[in-house]
Amino acid sequence: MNKTVATIPIAGMKPGTSGLRKKVVEFASGHYLPNFVQAVFDAVKPEAGFAGQTLVVGGDGRYYNREAIQTVIRMAAANGFARVLVGQDGILSTPAASCVIRQHVAFGGLILSASHNPGGPDGDFGIKFNGANGGPAAEKITDAIYACTEKINRFLTTDTPDVDLGRIGVQQVEGMRVEVIDAVADYVALMRKLFDFPALTRLFASGFRLSFDAMHAVTGPYAHAIFELELGAAPGTVRNGVPLPDFGGHHPDPNLVHAKELLDRMMGPDAPDLGAASDGDGDRNLIIGRGIFISPSDSLAMLAANAHLAPAYRQGIAGIARSMPTSGAADRVAQALGVPCFETPTGWKFFGNLLDAGKVTLCGEESAGTGSDHVREKDGVWAVLLWLNILAVRQQSVKQIAHEHWAHFGRNYYTRHDYEDIDSSVAKDLMQALALRMRDLTGHELEGRLVATADDFSYLDPVDGSLSKNQGLRIVFEDGCRIVYRLSGTGTSGATLRVYIERFEGNPTRHGMETQAALADLILLAESLAGIRVRTGRLAPSVIT
Ligand code: G1P
Ligand code: ZN
Repeated sequence: MNKTVATIPIAGMKPGTSGLRKKVVEFASGHYLPNFVQAVFDAVKPEAGFAGQTLVVGGDGRYYNREAIQTVIRMAAANGFARVLVGQDGILSTPAASCVIRQHVAFGGLILSASHNPGGPDGDFGIKFNGANGGPAAEKITDAIYACTEKINRFLTTDTPDVDLGRIGVQQVEGMRVEVIDAVADYVALMRKLFDFPALTRLFASGFRLSFDAMHAVTGPYAHAIFELELGAAPGTVRNGVPLPDFGGHHPDPNLVHAKELLDRMMGPDAPDLGAASDGDGDRNLIIGRGIFISPSDSLAMLAANAHLAPAYRQGIAGIARSMPTSGAADRVAQALGVPCFETPTGWKFFGNLLDAGKVTLCGEESAGTGSDHVREKDGVWAVLLWLNILAVRQQSVKQIAHEHWAHFGRNYYTRHDYEDIDSSVAKDLMQALALRMRDLTGHELEGRLVATADDFSYLDPVDGSLSKNQGLRIVFEDGCRIVYRLSGTGTSGATLRVYIERFEGNPTRHGMETQAALADLILLAESLAGIRVRTGRLAPSVIT
C-alpha cells in the first residue's frame, strides 16, 4: 500500500559537481535518502505527474547500492511512475545508465554512485538525477532539487517487499512495472554500432595486448563482455573485474596514484600495448601506452584528431568542448579541423546542452573524463574502444601516435596538484584572498611573465543563455602559460584545493621533458601566489596528476 511519511528538512543536501555525495553513514541514517529522492521527484514532476513515465535506476555496486535501489523503487511506485528499469543486481555504469535512458525513452534516471570515491561502510555514497537526454540535470534543476530538500515535509513510499534484483524479467510493485534488465546488453549494442568491431577482433587476433583494470568497480562486467567475449582479447585482459561493495578496499580512482600497479606494468619490460582503467561508476578512463602516460587533456586532443578513423565519427566532428581547467591541447586540434572549441565550467552537466544542440561531438575533462554525443555522460570503456579503433587503423604504438601529435600540434605540458582534506574555512580564506589578489594582476608581470588575464571564470551557456559564475580562478599569461585554482565540488571531507598548471611548448626538440620538470617554475609560482604552504601547512600536494 502507498503511504505518506512525515519528515523534516536535513541541512546541507546541496548537489555538487555531480550529484549529492556523502558518507554512507549519513546517507543510511534516518530519512536522508528518502528526503533527497522525494525532493528530486518534487522538483522534476511534470504537470501531468509521472503517469506513463519510465525511470531508470542503477548504480556502481558500492556498499548500500542495493538498499538504496529498493528505496528508490518503492518511492517511484508511490510517486506514480508507470515503469522502472533497473540493472540486474542493481548494476548500471553511469554511461550505461545514460544509454538505457535514451534507448528506452525514459523520463530520466537515478544513478547511485560516488564515482571514484572509496566505498564500503565507512566510505562514500552518492546519488544524482539524469534527465530524458541521459545527462546530468542542469544547474537550474539541481538548484530546484536543493530548494525542495529545504522545505520537504513528507515523502511517498509503499510497504511492498523488496524486488528480486537478481532475476531478469518483470515484477510488479503496486501499480508499477519493474523490469530487471541485463546491465550490459544495451551498452554493448551501442558500442558495436560506433566502432569497427571486426577490425578490433583482428587487432587482438594479431597478438595486440590490452590490460584493463576495472578496479573492482562497475566496469568489470562491461569490459569482460566487450574486450574478452566480443573482441577475443586474451583471458585476463580485464583485471580486478568483479565489482565489490568496498572496491577491495581501494580507491576506484584511475589516476597514477591509485592505479599504480597498472602504471608499473606499463612502464615495465613486458608491458602490453595499451593499459587502461576506469573508475567506480565507469565514466572515467586512464590511458597508458607502453612506456608513456597520456594525460587526459592530451587524450581528448588525440582522440579528436583521429576520431574520423572510427565508423561513428567518419563524417568528422562538429566541435569539441572541454572544461576550463582542461589544457588547451584540444583547442589546437579544433582550430586545425576548423571546428569550434567550447570552454565550460567543470562538471559534465555543462556539456549536455552543447551535445543536444549538435554543437559538439567530443567532450572531455582533465579529470580523466572523455565522451561523445553517443550518450550524455563521460564514458570510460568508450574511450578505450576509440583508442583501440585508432590503434587498429594506424598500426602504430600509443607512443608513436603521441609523439607525432605533439610534433604536429605542439605539446601542452600539464599537471594538476590536489591538496585533499584541508580545513574548509582555510580553503575558503585562501580562495578569497587569491580572488582579491587577482583583481590587480592583469597587465602586471609575475616572475618575468606578463599576465594577460586574471579572473574568476564564468560561463554563459550559448544554448540556453544561463550564466554560471565563480567557476575557478585563472591566471593566463601572455606566453600561453596558465594557472587555475578551484575548490572541488565532489569531496566529502574537508575541502580539496585543485591547482592546474599548464605550459605550451611548440619546439619539438623540447617535447621529451618530464612534466613536473617542464612546469617547475610555474609550480613554484602557483604555490607562492596562493600561499598554500603558509595557509594550509601542507608541504606538498596529496595527489599529483
Ligand atoms: C571532479 C572533477 C570533474 C568531474 C567531477 C565528476 O569534480 O574535477 O572534472 O566532472 O569530479 O566526476 P571536482 O571534485 O573537481 O569538483
Ligand atoms: Zn565517475
